[in-house]
Amino acid sequence: MAAIVVEGVSKHWTTAEGRVRAVDRVSFSLDEGTLNVLLGPSGCGKSTTLRLIAGLEVSDGGTIRIAGRDVTKLPPSQRNISMVFQSYALFPHLSVAENILFGLRVRKVSPDECVRRLAGTADLLGLSALLNRKPGQLSGGQQQRVALGRAIIARAPVCLMDEPLSNLDAQLRAEMRQEIRALQRKIGITMVYVTHDQVEAMSMADRVILLNGGRIEQNGAPVDLYETPANVFVARFIGTPPMNLLPLVAGDGGAVVDGTTGPGVFPREFAGGMLGVRPEHIRLAHGRGLPATVDSVEYLGGDSLVACRVGGTPVAVRVAGSTALSRGDAASLEWASGAQHYFGADGVRRALAGQPPGETMLA
Ligand SMILES: Nc1ncnc2c1ncn2[C@@H]1O[C@H](COP(=O)(O)OP(=O)(O)OP(=O)(O)O)[C@@H](O)[C@H]1O
Ligand SMILES: [Mg+2]
Repeated sequence: MAAIVVEGVSKHWTTAEGRVRAVDRVSFSLDEGTLNVLLGPSGCGKSTTLRLIAGLEVSDGGTIRIAGRDVTKLPPSQRNISMVFQSYALFPHLSVAENILFGLRVRKVSPDECVRRLAGTADLLGLSALLNRKPGQLSGGQQQRVALGRAIIARAPVCLMDEPLSNLDAQLRAEMRQEIRALQRKIGITMVYVTHDQVEAMSMADRVILLNGGRIEQNGAPVDLYETPANVFVARFIGTPPMNLLPLVAGDGGAVVDGTTGPGVFPREFAGGMLGVRPEHIRLAHGRGLPATVDSVEYLGGDSLVACRVGGTPVAVRVAGSTALSRGDAASLEWASGAQHYFGADGVRRALAGQPPGETMLA
């Protein structure tokens, strides 16, 4: 059975500027015991969707089911969920133990059971030695773990998290996201996790739901969003740097990249759409391929990012190690035909029939 089913759910706000469709007829189904990320740019409706699942907002339409039960009209306390927010707001005057136990007291769990669960939770989160400290005596990551402890000690089958790591520095974020993922697997909880950080989403999720303007652009496994982006929005959102998108015009020998005279990259009727290719799939060729000019080179250690220009369009290329190229140099770009994507004039990805994988295009 699905842990959470959201069906045709909407939330509109009336503001001074008019009606805002924060969430617009959104539907999805989340499997039990999985980690699901709501991803998207600021204002796309991630927090509102999460708050609707939690019952902190009342929807304007649609139904929400948790563990098969229609909870659309139920208050948060009756939805059997736990939550962690961005501002995890620990009580500064209470100890770590008291902070973790706070929610259980409200739930009227017996003192014996509280002691047992506290020991288990503290052990799981590596907080056993810190239980008597106050939040002010903890590092950011430790405070974050206390907030997590407060959520998981409730043993609710569903845990909702809204940008829980945004107060932490980059290294700690990376550590904590691994910890959260491991914890989620260990206790088999269903998690809905909100972030605007696609690296966080890709590295943690079983399922990513990418939102834009209150609607779902794509819902799938991280590999689906990366390998078969549904449209140009997804292609531009996933990947660092994201997929290159090159406008196509009619030219000699078929559709050519705008601003070039060839070679033809697709049949002529593909003109008007866009060719997509990821930076890591482009190779710098010698003398053949798509002519480009180098704008800049960024050396990153393990690899380098070469910012090029094809016609008027910027194209990022990721190459292993360093490169002898520098600004103003001419370069030729090539990639395997299996690495290229086609997006129609409407921005929607079209599957390419009979694409021979691995064969060098433009050769
Ligand atoms: N209480 C409110 N009243 C009016 N508009 C609101 C309210 N809450 C949210 N909105 C609007 O609804 C839209 C979605 O907001 P939401 O908080 O869900 O975005 P988000 O994806 O979580 O963004 P962020 O990444 O910045 O947290 C935004 O346009 C926001 O301005
Ligand atoms: Mg938000």
